[in-house]
Amino acid sequence: MTARFGLSIVSVRPIDIGVSRLSLPVRITGRNKRGKKTRYFGKIMSYSDMLTDRSIQLLKNVYLQIHAKRPLFGIFETTEEMAQDHFERLETLYRLGIPTAKPYGYYWLRGQSWLVVTEYLDAKPISSFHEIKPEIVDMVFRYLYRMHRKRVFHGDLKPDNIMVGDTVYILDIGHLQKDVPSRYKLAYDLACLLCCFLEFCPIDDILTLARRYYAPQSLEAAAEYIDLVQMRPDIHFNDDTKKKLLVSLHH
Ligand SMILES: Nc1ncnc2c1ncn2[C@@H]1O[C@H](COP(=O)(O)OP(=O)(O)OP(=O)(O)O)[C@@H](O)[C@H]1O
Ligand SMILES: [Mg+2]
Repeated sequence: MTARFGLSIVSVRPIDIGVSRLSLPVRITGRNKRGKKTRYFGKIMSYSDMLTDRSIQLLKNVYLQIHAKRPLFGIFETTEEMAQDHFERLETLYRLGIPTAKPYGYYWLRGQSWLVVTEYLDAKPISSFHEIKPEIVDMVFRYLYRMHRKRVFHGDLKPDNIMVGDTVYILDIGHLQKDVPSRYKLAYDLACLLCCFLEFCPIDDILTLARRYYAPQSLEAAAEYIDLVQMRPDIHFNDDTKKKLLVSLHH
């Protein structure tokens, strides 16, 4: 951080340990060349994180194949590839004008460990809220729709990856296989986003907002992935809510 960002008196502190699965999130603080206190957000990615990611991606693909659906999820061969991909996908989002943490770079630390550095956001993940206003939900659907129109897919939408501050930020694009037809990727993203809000907002409000951007066919295609999304440890809703959602998506 001293060499690349001109920071002095640098402190690196882990944040939210226990929540993160695939990296060690850190807050990096120091003084810049003009003596001003500056913060960055960093993710340390190690070999074991890459192996965990690989296992999760593999299990999701196996689940889809058992249900006669096309596997969607990609895997990384090295930690470097994982860090580079994370950085480049954030860059894509940033260039599209979707609010996200501005990516600054990815750097080798030692062995198989890499550090991705981004802007530090003064924001909270929606997972830490009790309730989410319809305006916020609308904004997230609008950003996702804008991404989809440009054939950019997220692949890992979950309440921890949507943060609210001055605006709504979308973080951490996941890793979907390149050759998967767009309609499947769109359907999976849409399924994840619908489910992200179930804990925080009435289901009818979520659907009304989703229908502003997505056609009935897209919502029906999203229904195909709701079972898989329900198995995620970081998106919560019960079977009754799921049933209600599925009925609505088919109408
Ligand atoms: N750019 C950022 N600025 C400030 N805080 C952030 C930033 N990005 C993430 N966070 C916070 O750090 C926490 C951990 O983020 P991180 O993305 O590492 O973990 P995660 O989303 O739980 O898991 P995953 O590694 O699967 O994305 C988030 O829940 C959020 O509160
Ligand atoms: Mg995240």
